[in-house]
Amino acid sequence: MIRITNLIAMLALASTAAYAQDNTAALGKKLTTNNCAVCHTFNKGEPNGQGPNLFGIVGKPLASEPGFKYSAAMKAAATGKVWDEKLLDAWLTDTQTVAPGNAMTYFEGDKARRQKIIAYLRTLH
Ligand code: HEC
Repeated sequence: MIRITNLIAMLALASTAAYAQDNTAALGKKLTTNNCAVCHTFNKGEPNGQGPNLFGIVGKPLASEPGFKYSAAMKAAATGKVWDEKLLDAWLTDTQTVAPGNAMTYFEGDKARRQKIIAYLRTLH
């Protein structure tokens, strides 16, 4: 039989984990706004900027935002690939390793910061 104190402890742990996840995404939202919003929009139906709209980017095929004029380098690298967390991590570390010659110049060397940004991107659905 689970004792009531254990049950309370388990519930507290579960809500801490959920809070940590939400908190990571919240911190990521701030980082993403500061670092990406000059070129990107994030909400459904928002117009593309210098970069494409990023709504629903996790799970989306590369270079597939309607109406955005991707570079030839980006289109060449996109074939058959979908944005998952691993590829986004590589992209944010150094976009040129994913699509050599593409038009987004951005380097985030801090893994924890990349993870926060990706946690926020995951919420855009
Ligand atoms: C100076 C402008 C600029 C900044 C800042 C910028 N991007 Fe980009 N981004 C672009 C451009 C331009 C492209 C398209 C590249 C191409 O076609 O060669 C792009 C493409 C992308 C793509 C691929 C989209 C697709 O449809 O396949 C992702 C993902 C992305 N950016 C994420 C980010 C994130 C996250 C940040 C912030 C950490 C960021 N970008 C910051 C300009 C920028």
